[in-house]
Amino acid sequence: MSILVTGGAGFIGSNFVLDWLRQSDEPVVNLDVLTYAGNPENLASLDGDARHVFVKGDICDRALIDRLLAEHRPRAIVHFAAESHVDRSISGPGAFMRTNVEGTFNLLEAARAYWSQLAGEEKASFRFHHVSTDEVYGSLQAQDPPFAETNPYEPNSPYSASKAASDHLVRAWHHTYGLPVVTTNCSNNYGPYHFPEKLIPLMIVNALAGKPLPVYGDGQQIRDWLYVTDHCSGIRAVLAGGRLGETYNIGGWNEKANIDIVETVCALLDELRPDPAGPYSRLISYVKDRPGHDRRYAIDARKIERELGWRPAETFETGIRKTVQWYLDHPDWVARVQSGAYRDWVSQQYGG
Ligand code: NAD
Ligand code: DAU
Repeated sequence: MSILVTGGAGFIGSNFVLDWLRQSDEPVVNLDVLTYAGNPENLASLDGDARHVFVKGDICDRALIDRLLAEHRPRAIVHFAAESHVDRSISGPGAFMRTNVEGTFNLLEAARAYWSQLAGEEKASFRFHHVSTDEVYGSLQAQDPPFAETNPYEPNSPYSASKAASDHLVRAWHHTYGLPVVTTNCSNNYGPYHFPEKLIPLMIVNALAGKPLPVYGDGQQIRDWLYVTDHCSGIRAVLAGGRLGETYNIGGWNEKANIDIVETVCALLDELRPDPAGPYSRLISYVKDRPGHDRRYAIDARKIERELGWRPAETFETGIRKTVQWYLDHPDWVARVQSGAYRDWVSQQYGG
């Protein structure tokens, strides 16, 4: 038995693969095309581990996926691969349509062909797990209840529209063809191996470099934050016990305004790596807002708790402390990502 993971060299995917192989010996076939966001160094601890098979390839490549499915006969596909950064989707939406929409369509068609020829228990237990986001539900007002699975879809950015489209495809492939799917919609993750163009890692690495900490607009936008290994355990719970065709929201019950996140990061750095030049909060700089910036996300995660007994293990206080400490302990990882040196390794290893 094995599982096929897509996007397993990215932030959440690599945490998921590492976590999976810490908990089980079931092999992982990891398909990732290694965009700028894919960093196989995240998986360096698995070098030589026969349980991890890394394949550099594109989810839009149907022949490759057909071959991987025929060769490895996975019992599940866990689909992380995506373009994931909202700001990049605003400056260049094309890649988001290709990977998030066409790529998911392609994977669903390959999964359908593979699943259709399975029989008996193999067919009954097969799962297509689609990893999605809370951003598909749009933006909340301050007094609104958090997003439930029944909320209408109101995506506002090219990124969230592309993820919403992929969620609809997954739903339709279940409804029309009976493909055994589950979907999870998760809030903002943070933790190790987070690419430093997203809020929390960007603030940590900029602060340590004495650079400005850019806060969009008034900094009062609210996100719900979940430590990445809690997302991984939520996915494992849904993969193991989620009802077919259902969606499950995953969140940390941690609503925070962006400026409070930045202040918290600064305070932790003041404690753990004091700067003789003064408190890190001196670097906070309010900048132009993100176009179409969603004001508030919040997740109602009661369904996954009620049905599957899942709750996050980390509080925000424990998770953010671990995260800041991880970045302090891994200056080489940060330096190689920032200099682009990890790309040299990718082209040396995989040729271009
Ligand atoms: P990421 O950008 O860090 O990683 C994405 C990975 O997908 C990279 O390794 C990249 O190389 C790979 N990839 C991109 N295009 C590909 C293609 N065409 N074929 C194969 N591989 C490809 O993203 P992330 O933050 O780890 O997010 C993973 C998934 O979780 C995404 O589907 C995202 O929408 C979802 N999600 C993310 C968050 C979050 O806070 N980061 C929250 C909820 C849901
Ligand atoms: O909600 C889940 C989503 O969370 C995921 O689906 C996305 O893949 C993931 O990237 C994340 O999206 P966000 O847009 O919320 O994440 P980001 O880290 O880019 O921004 C978080 C908040 O911080 C957002 O309100 C914008 C703000 N921000 C971000 C950056 C990079 C700033 O104020 N300054 C910044 O420099």
